[in-house]
Amino acid sequence: MEHINIAIDGPSGVGKSTMAKSLAKRLGYTYIDTGAMFRTLAVYFIQNGIDKDDEAAVVAALPSCSVEIRYEDGQQHMILNGEDVTGLIRTEEVSEAASVTSQYVEVRKKLLDMQREMAKKQDVIMDGRDIGTVVLPDAKLKLFVTARPEVRAERRYKQLLESGKLGSETLESITKEMRERDHRDSHREHAPLIQAEDAVLLDNSDMTEAEAEDYVLSLLKERTGR
Ligand code: DC
Repeated sequence: MEHINIAIDGPSGVGKSTMAKSLAKRLGYTYIDTGAMFRTLAVYFIQNGIDKDDEAAVVAALPSCSVEIRYEDGQQHMILNGEDVTGLIRTEEVSEAASVTSQYVEVRKKLLDMQREMAKKQDVIMDGRDIGTVVLPDAKLKLFVTARPEVRAERRYKQLLESGKLGSETLESITKEMRERDHRDSHREHAPLIQAEDAVLLDNSDMTEAEAEDYVLSLLKERTGR
């Protein structure tokens, strides 16, 4: 039986992962956060003093990084060279390094096969930037999720605050960095963040999480009958 794949793309702080996780649970699909994979590589570059802006150095380091995904109690854990680095990947420093190094084609190549293999084996909801355009062009349902930038920055600020991870960031600095990353993610040469032609646009600025989820479930039902 062919597996059902749902592709969710959009900028950071738009609530993709919250929505995807919750939908995956309701549908019994596997949730795959591809941003976490780029973040895991970024942790390696930071820990090993590799300059994120030096493409040749980053590419030369790739053979030394093995990235695996493990699920524990339904949660995605990121394993870097055998070590669980899940707790290290959500800092601003890692966000920045992941955004910069994900521009390099060799970095993307390293993760692409792994992403596709996972989607072949099971029903998945995968989120990222290029899932509908590059990774899973045949996904049953593609969503491009957006929200107004100020709404996204506020959500990110709250998330950092509530998880006790807020460092020296302010709402202003988060907004500024978010804009820079959005620009970089959308304007890079390889697999930029763009809406796939056949993706459904979902602006959730003024929606509750439940409203957004119900909408996606209704779209899925239309397409799959389930
Ligand atoms: O979704 P995220 O914020 O955790 O992703 C971190 C960075 O990884 C993001 O700035 C761009 C990159 N990324 C990517 O290039 N392609 C993906 N499919 C997912 C993330």
